[in-house]
This record gives sequence, C-alpha cells and structure tokens, in this order.
Amino acid sequence: MRLKVVLLAAGEGKRMKSSLPKVLHPVLGRPMVKWVLEGVRPLMPEEIIVVVGRGAEEVMASLEGEDLTFVTQEEQLGTGHAVMAARHRLTDFPGTTLILYGDTPLLRPETVKGLLNLHQRTGATLTLLVAHFEDPSGYGRIQRDDGGRVLKIVEEADIAPGTDNKEINGGVYAVHTPFLLEALDELRPLNRQGEYYLTDIVEVASKRAEPIETFEVSDPLEVLGVNTRAELAQAQQVLRRRIVEKWMLEGVTVEDPDSVWIEPEVKIGKDTVLRPCCFLRGRTVVGDQCKIGPQVEIIDSRLGDGVEVRFSSSVEGSVLEKGVIVGPFSRLRPGTYLEAGSKVGNFVEIKKSRLGRGTKANHLAYLGDALVGKGVNIGAGTITCNYDGLRKHPTVIGDGAFIGSNVSLVAPVKVGEEAVVGAGSVITKDVPPRALGVTRAKQKNIKGWVTKWLRRRGKEE
Ligand code: UD1
Ligand code: CA
Repeated sequence: MRLKVVLLAAGEGKRMKSSLPKVLHPVLGRPMVKWVLEGVRPLMPEEIIVVVGRGAEEVMASLEGEDLTFVTQEEQLGTGHAVMAARHRLTDFPGTTLILYGDTPLLRPETVKGLLNLHQRTGATLTLLVAHFEDPSGYGRIQRDDGGRVLKIVEEADIAPGTDNKEINGGVYAVHTPFLLEALDELRPLNRQGEYYLTDIVEVASKRAEPIETFEVSDPLEVLGVNTRAELAQAQQVLRRRIVEKWMLEGVTVEDPDSVWIEPEVKIGKDTVLRPCCFLRGRTVVGDQCKIGPQVEIIDSRLGDGVEVRFSSSVEGSVLEKGVIVGPFSRLRPGTYLEAGSKVGNFVEIKKSRLGRGTKANHLAYLGDALVGKGVNIGAGTITCNYDGLRKHPTVIGDGAFIGSNVSLVAPVKVGEEAVVGAGSVITKDVPPRALGVTRAKQKNIKGWVTKWLRRRGKEE
C-alpha cells in the first residue's frame, strides 16, 4: 500500500493559554508533536507532510533534521482547512493518506498499523479511529444510522439536544487520496465555530455511499487529545508509566514506580535499582547493577556498571566509570569525568574536570577545570579558584597527591605527583612532585594568655 502522512500542527492551542505552540509542549522532555511522529515513522510512509502555522518557525526548528515536508497554513480556519494546505503534495497520489493531529502523543504505532490494515483489507474509502468514552466531552461524536453505518461526525459545539452518544472520533483517518481531494472541495464552514472541519469528509463519504470503516482502540486513553494543561499532565503520566513498566520488564528494579521519571531516550542496564523520586533524562545511559537514588536527577550522562548515585545528587553531562560512588548531596556539572572507582561525597561540586582511578573528594569541595590524577585525596574544603573574573584557568594535580583540608588552588597551577599540600594553604605557585606545599602562617602558643586576659577584664583576681 502506498502511504503518505499528513500531520496537523498549525493550530493555536488556545486552551493551553501559552506563548509556546501547543504541539511543542514537552511530554517527558520531548515535544508532543515528536511523539506523534515517532508513532508513524515505523509505517515507512513515502512522505510525511507537517502542516505548520501558529509558531511555524519554532515548530520547524524543533523538528529540524527529520525527513519531513513542511507546508504552511497561513490562517487557522480549522482542521479541514489545514489539510487543504497540504493538497499540492497529494495531487495525483493514488495511495492512502493517513491524517493525524499533533496533539495525540499517546497513540501507539500498533494501533495506527491496525487501522491501516483494516483500511486495506476492507478496501474502505475512509477508515476512522474511534473509542468509547464514559465522558465524551470535548470530542467529536460518531453518528450512525439504525443499521450501524457511519453517517457523520458531529463536533461537540454542534450537537443537537438528545442526539449525543459516547462513541468519539479519535482523530486518525486513513483516506483514499483521490476521494480526500474531492471531499476537501465540499467542506464549508457552516457550523457554530465557523471552521472548515476535517470531520465533515465523513458526511461527504456517507452521502456518496463510499465504504467507511471504524477501528476501535483497545485502550481509550490512547486517543487522548491534549487541549489543556490538565490533559498535558495526564498524557505525561501515561507515557511515564509506560516507560517505567517497559524498564521493569527489562530487568530494572523500580522501588516506587509512581515517583520515577525516565525520558524516552534513556537506557538502563539489568539489575539496576532505581529508588524513589529519580529523574533520568535526556540521553542518559545507565549500566548494569547500579544503585540510583532516592531523589536523584541524572541528565545526559553515562554511568558504567555498578555505579552508585546516592541521595539528593544531581548529575549532568558527566561520565561515571565502573564502580564510581557519588553523593549523597553531590553536584556533577557538565564535563565531569570520573574514572573507575573514584568517589565524590557530600557537598562536592565538580565541573569540567577529570578524576583519575580511585581518587576521592569526599566532602565540601569545588573542582572546576581540573585534571586530577589517580589515587589523589582531595581534602574537605578544597577549592579550585579557576576563575579570575575574566577567564577560566586549569588546575593539574598529579597521581597520588594529597591535598589537605581547606586549600585554595589558585589556577593556573600544578601540584606534582605524590606532593602534599598542607591544610589551609593558598597555593599560587606550582608544587613540585613529592614536595610539601604550605602557605599558612606559623602557629604560636602563648602560655597563660587566658588568665591574663580574664584578669584584665576584672573577672578574676
Ligand atoms: C478534533 C476533532 C474532533 C476529535 C478530536 C480528537 C475536528 C473538527 N475535530 O477536535 O472530532 O474528536 O480532534 O482529538 O477536527 N489544527 C491545525 N489547523 C487548524 C486547526 C487545528 O493545524 O486550523 C491542528 C491542531 O494543531 C491540532 C489538531 O489540528 O494538532 C486538532 O485540532 P484541535 O483544535 O485540537 O481539534 P479538537 O477540537 O480537539
Ligand atoms: Ca485536540
């Protein structure tokens, strides 16, 4: 079967009350319209035509790099009018046109395939996706005659009293293209909203006695159209749950499936445990047997096997090799690379730095633009002073070095292999290998000083 797809993404999205075009609202980090696209890609259509209008530039930018044809609907006069904007791409196309809306992110590829199979098998002119809703409000209703044949779709605004029913239009249509082009010519904006309704092609078909089929979704939630922020949240919860369940089936333990968010491109290894309130986002890849959480956010990062990220840590744009332990309360910013077996503890912030194998920064430190060798100990309170107000400068620390507590390393600076830096030092010059670098003032103890001091204040005889 020859197939083209028309995806409508030009609408205003008034009910969202947003400056962002509706179809770009993210659902688990991915714009709504992209979810719909992902759902039709597996069908391998000859062409995917995306109708843009409201916020066209933004919508096109967010779909950059995908193999799509964009057409513009200058004025938003309804869903039928939107398809008219794609007409020149459909002229002389003898195959099937599949029309979908950009606001139905829950649609599964299997469902669309099922609809197309039915369309092909029966040789229908038009096949509709339908569902039965307890509360059908907001959706177009399918109207049938006494024999069950579809007559038309009636939009909610146009329902005559006493004629309502619970069978709704899911907003996915497989249409024989030559018929579609003729039917579009017959659309008139003669309804309460003064719009060209795509749904009116159904009445055109039934009047001409063209065969119409309906394909009922097994899970009515699939056709959820996102018109409001409440529906956006609902759609997001459904997709979130689907992804969490998929990973549980793949062998990931999720202690509290209700509080874990995993974005669609994330990958997770077997026997990894996700504790409550974890957020795995972007292109994050987690190895086998990791322990994550509770309350951890990991964005665009790669974790090897057996990594632990403990309570309340934030990891972004970082690589954590095998067996690394991070947290609780650590913050790893982009460009952090922790080699195998290294350890980062509470209240440590790291940015654009590499820690060698087995190196430890266990408490209260800031490492920025630092290259740290293996087996190094970074004492509590160590700070790389990497910024002079104008530029960033590097700090290099050799293998086996020991940095005492509360040290300021004023970059650019180097600490040699196996060197020791005394606690409290402000290091502005390189420390050679195996040397002690220390800058603090000498301590002096004054005997009996307290006694004299109290006497001066008249407190003691
Ligand atoms: C539409 C259907 C309704 C169906 C429901 C399913 C019509 C007339 N009604 O209603 O029967 O039950 O979807 O979710 O089709 N769009 C454009 N240009 C326009 C108007 C809309 O591109 O001029 C796009 C929107 O961006 C959106 C899609 O078409 O992605 C659907 O439009 P929307 O206004 O959400 O239609 P509904 O009122 O939900
Ligand atoms: Ca809608």
